[in-house]
Amino acid sequence: MSAPTSEARTVITFGTFDVFHVGHLRVIERAAALGDRLVVGVSADELNIRKKGREPVFSEGERMAIVAALKPVHAVFLEESLELKREYILEHGAHVLVMGDDWEGRFDEFRDICDVVYLPRTPAISTTALIEKISATG
Ligand code: CTP
Repeated sequence: MSAPTSEARTVITFGTFDVFHVGHLRVIERAAALGDRLVVGVSADELNIRKKGREPVFSEGERMAIVAALKPVHAVFLEESLELKREYILEHGAHVLVMGDDWEGRFDEFRDICDVVYLPRTPAISTTALIEKISATG
């Protein structure tokens, strides 16, 4: 991990990153390439239960440990509420917010404080599809 400098361009992104897969890796690599430091908000278990109606397969602590161990990631934090994006962006001094294009347009309100970039999702893979595939073959 490198310390932030005043010149460092910080990128922030958010996600559950449950049952970590190559689509997650690709979005993290592409987000990191947009700046000097990548900070990742990993969504809390409670938030996922509210958002997706199920508990993640891996706990928030496990998901944070996996994401934090990735070479392009400088820091992780727990995203406890979807309503706190603005606070998280400011708190981490982010210059760029990166989201998958499944969220296209939904975060444009933050263009007053940072750049907002939507990246195309990696086709044909998702945590939900993986869970369904594994359950069907079990
Ligand atoms: N992502 C991606 N390509 C995929 C799947 C996810 O680029 N094929 C990105 C999402 O756009 C998001 C981040 O990875 O920026 C975390 O997404 P997350 O919701 O945790 O993963 P999903 O696989 O989409 O999970 P689910 O099926 O539970 O919605």
